Amino acid sequence: METRVIGVDPLEDCRAVYREAAAVLADGGLVAIPTETVYGLGADAFNTEAVADVFAVKERPSFDPLICHLPSARALRDIVEIPAGLQPLVDALAREFWPGPMTLVLPRKACVPDIVTSGLPTVACRVPSHEVMRGVARALGHPIAAPSANRFGHISPTSASAVLTELGGKIPLVLDAGACSEGLESTILQPCLDEKGKPAVRLLREGPVTREKLRKICRVLKPGKKTSSDPEASVPGSGAGENGQEEAPTAPGMLKSHYAPSKPLMLHNPREAFQPEPGVRYGLITYQGDSELAAQDCWTEVMPLSPGSGRLSEAAVRLFAVMRAMDESPSVDVIIAEELPLQGLGCAMMDRLTRAAAKRGETW
Ligand code: TXA
Ligand code: MG
Repeated sequence: METRVIGVDPLEDCRAVYREAAAVLADGGLVAIPTETVYGLGADAFNTEAVADVFAVKERPSFDPLICHLPSARALRDIVEIPAGLQPLVDALAREFWPGPMTLVLPRKACVPDIVTSGLPTVACRVPSHEVMRGVARALGHPIAAPSANRFGHISPTSASAVLTELGGKIPLVLDAGACSEGLESTILQPCLDEKGKPAVRLLREGPVTREKLRKICRVLKPGKKTSSDPEASVPGSGAGENGQEEAPTAPGMLKSHYAPSKPLMLHNPREAFQPEPGVRYGLITYQGDSELAAQDCWTEVMPLSPGSGRLSEAAVRLFAVMRAMDESPSVDVIIAEELPLQGLGCAMMDRLTRAAAKRGETW
C-alpha cells in the first residue's frame, strides 16, 4: 500500500485536510495523526473493523485497550457515564488539564465497542491540545480511537518520519505537522474516591501532567490501590477487606517491557563505574552532556537530551527521537542511558527508559 503524507500547519486554514482525513476514517481507513504527545494511529472508534485493523497493523495484543480522542470536553458525555460522586473531580481535572496531555479512564457507555476497551467496563478518553487531532475528530463527528503510531513495543513516534519508519506502506495516510511539542505519551488517570471518600486519582501511566501538578487538585494513588468508589471494592467499615486498600489489578497493557529500541538499552547505575566490554560499541544518552560519565572515552556516540541547560521539558521533547537516532546509528551496538532526576517530567522519562531497558516479554 502506498502511504500518502499530507503536510498540515495548524496556524493556517486546515479544514480541507481535516475533511480529507475524516473521509478516509469514515470509510474505515486508518490515518496517522499528530498530537502534542506522540503521533496516533487513528480509526473511527465506532467502526469495529477499522479498530481491528489498528490492532493488526500495530501487531498489538487485543488485551491492550485504546484511547478515544475527543474534540472537546463536552463530547465526553457521549461516551462515558460519570458517577455522580466523581463529577466535580472530573470537571476540575478537565478544567485544569484539557485540552492537553491527560487521559481519563471512566465507565463507558454502551456505544463504545468492546474492541476499543478490550472488553473493560471503562474507556480511556482524552481531549488533545493539538489542533490537528481535534480538527479531524470534529470533522469525523465520532471519537478517534488512536494508540501511538508505532509497532507494538517499539519507540513511540514524535515525528511523521518516525511514523513512516514504523508503519510506512501499511496505512493509507499520514498527516505531518512536524515534531510533537510534549514528546511523551499522556498521563493516564482513573478518577476515584479514596478510602475516606475524598476525590483522588490512580496514576496508571506517568506523563506530561506530573504528580506535582496533580497534587494541586487531589490525592494521587498508585495504580493498584483499591478505593471506595470501585464497584467491586469494599467500602470503609464494611468489614470486607482492609479499608478498601487491597491491591487491584494494574492497568491493562502496561507492560514492563515497552518503548524499546531494537538494540539493547541499559540504564546506567550512577553508584557504579561504567565497565565497557571489549569489542562492544557503546552509545550514551546523557541528560546535559557535561557529566563525568559523558567524559569517559568509551563512547562511539554521545547524545545529550538537553545540552548545556538541562531542562526536563526539552529532554522530554527529544527523548524518543534520540532513542531512535541511537537505534539507527551504524556505530552503536548497545545504548546506555544516564539516569534522569526523579522529579517532574523526569519520572515519566525514567518510566519509559526503565521499560525500554526491561527484558522483552516480561509483564508487570
Ligand atoms: O499521548 C497518548 O496517550 C498517545 C496519543 C496518541 O494520544 N496515545 C497512547 O496510546 O499512548 P497507547 O495505545 O500507546 O497507550 C494507551 C494505554 C494502554 O496501553 C493502556 O495502558 C491504557 O492506555 N488504557 C486504555 N484504556 C484503558 C482502560 N479502559 N483502563 C485502563 N487503562 C487503559
Ligand atoms: Mg503506545
